[in-house]
Amino acid sequence: MADLSTSYLGLKLKNPLIAASSPLTATLDNLKRCEDAGLGAVVLKSIFEEQIEAAGEKTAENGEAYSAHTDAYEFLRETSIEQHIDGYLALLEGAKQSLDIPVIASINCRSNGKWIEYAKRFIAVGADAIELNHYVVATDVEVEGSAIEKEYLSLVKHARKAIDVPLSLKMGPAFSSLANMLRRFDELEIDGVVLFNRFYNPDINIDRLKMVRAGMLSGKDEYTLPLRWAALMSQQVRYDICASTGIWDGKTVIKQLLAGAKSVQLCSVLLKQGLSTVFKIESEMRQWMEGHEYATLDEFRGALSQEHADPMTWERVQYMKSILDADAGKE
Ligand SMILES: Cc1cc2nc3c(=O)[nH]c(=O)nc-3n(C[C@H](O)[C@H](O)[C@H](O)COP(=O)(O)O)c2cc1C
Repeated sequence: MADLSTSYLGLKLKNPLIAASSPLTATLDNLKRCEDAGLGAVVLKSIFEEQIEAAGEKTAENGEAYSAHTDAYEFLRETSIEQHIDGYLALLEGAKQSLDIPVIASINCRSNGKWIEYAKRFIAVGADAIELNHYVVATDVEVEGSAIEKEYLSLVKHARKAIDVPLSLKMGPAFSSLANMLRRFDELEIDGVVLFNRFYNPDINIDRLKMVRAGMLSGKDEYTLPLRWAALMSQQVRYDICASTGIWDGKTVIKQLLAGAKSVQLCSVLLKQGLSTVFKIESEMRQWMEGHEYATLDEFRGALSQEHADPMTWERVQYMKSILDADAGKE
């Protein structure tokens, strides 16, 4: 039988299928279900630095209505923050005690702030790795792209200094030179990058004249963006690339591995089709590997990355050619 084992961030995985950070990884019961379904690792639901701090402020402000002391304000604020962290620590500790697969903690962080202290506590209770989930929705017309790039680089630099377990960054694709950013993260000696996080977009309901949230789940055709960047970068950086977004079946996992990804993260497919789909994905992968006489993932990983396949095709958006082909009735 084809061997699906792999390494990711220096961790040994029985297969490259990782449960992405989501409600499916937010409770111990769900995490156990992920392991039972056959996933190779889990990324816990993110703890949000902003949310923790905001909850702390709120508790303290409510408390201050009957206490005029600054000390009381600080006490209430810190207590609420501690409760949040304790909840996450309990989930992580429970996961480490009950699961055999690697458990990755996820921190949604804003700056070089307190989250580093949280990360250290997560490591102390056994987190196998830390995934930083950082995104900036660059809507401020006064902020230049270079400032946002600096923010990312500074964040990774501080994290790398402070965190002595494997460290990955989950990021979005919106940079003016994504290739350059991905190379600069490599210089900071990060262990992995998750390409890409998927952000909610707003939509408009024209009957109710209301802003609404666009679909939360990815579509099956969204996998081509991470595919392209895995192919372009996998031979140009030392860290592991984990492909994420729009991966719904075994064939798509194979494509990401051919492009050079070390692992993939699954979210929408698991939420929509249930955890039994993991078995199906594994079967599809094995079937393809056996059909092509591959015994291990290393035998074909990266075989169609930019270095080994036609570089121009990965690099260029062949917009004109697509239009001409469409006019000529070709696919
Ligand atoms: C309901 C829901 C909650 C999510 N929560 C988080 C989160 O807390 N942290 C995070 O990094 N990503 C979160 N994500 C993003 C997913 O981990 C994943 O990156 C994204 O959905 C793209 O993968 P997919 O196409 O397999 O769904 C969430 C996604 C969904 C649908």
